[in-house]
Amino acid sequence: MPTISFVSPKGGAGKTTSALVLAEQIAMSAPVTIIDADPNHPIATWANGSNCPANIRVVSDVDEENIIEAIEEARERTPFVLVDLEGTASKIVVYAVGMSNLVIVPSQGSQLDAAQATRSLKVVREREKIGHGKVPYGVLVTRTSPAIRTRTTAHIIKTLRKGGITIFDTELHEREAYKALFAFNAPLAHLNPKEVANIDKAVTNAEKFAAEVITMLRANAGSDKAEPEAA
Ligand SMILES: Nc1ncnc2c1ncn2[C@@H]1O[C@H](COP(=O)(O)OP(=O)(O)OP(=O)(O)O)[C@@H](O)[C@H]1O
Ligand SMILES: [Mg+2]
Repeated sequence: MPTISFVSPKGGAGKTTSALVLAEQIAMSAPVTIIDADPNHPIATWANGSNCPANIRVVSDVDEENIIEAIEEARERTPFVLVDLEGTASKIVVYAVGMSNLVIVPSQGSQLDAAQATRSLKVVREREKIGHGKVPYGVLVTRTSPAIRTRTTAHIIKTLRKGGITIFDTELHEREAYKALFAFNAPLAHLNPKEVANIDKAVTNAEKFAAEVITMLRANAGSDKAEPEAA
């Protein structure tokens, strides 16, 4: 029953977008709960459109008082639980990370730097310190151009990897379709190719990202103290 949290200290890093993109892909084969822990409720608003897939359930109005119960309850109802968080410097993030099997740290390619990655991962390391065991994580580089790989971004990724930071091979490219999810309150599968460019490429990118997440979860299955019954 994997719980996946989306964490990043930077506003606009792509947490909500990547959570929704992943949820849609997983929902094609299994029910998913998205816990929308952002006080602005972007995913709950999205789900209120008439296009929310039947396999996606959204829970909002969570705060640090009830996040643990919300995750526990969601785990009983659906095999996958995704938690969209805001910032990192709050208890709610610590609690959600404490209950996660995987932490995804979206980071805009253009803003990626070692200091930011280190700050993002502090909460992951703190989980270990308070005795909840290690949790796998991956930095997801977002909003990169599918056509151009800047030398600076390539260099930073290489440096971070050398420093032992896990970075997803898949990047979530800058695509109009990912913005359109929220503009039209619809999943990728419901967007109209006459209105939105390159939906197919956005879908392929989303599939690759989801496949990498599933591989990472499988690779770490059984080693997570947050879920001893799975060991
Ligand atoms: N891969 C992408 N392609 C195109 N637009 C994107 C992409 N990722 C994010 N965006 C856009 O960037 C903005 C910020 O993204 P998002 O809301 O996902 O970030 P966030 O980390 O959840 O932000 P916050 O910290 O405010 O919750 C949104 O307008 C979103 O549509
Ligand atoms: Mg967000």
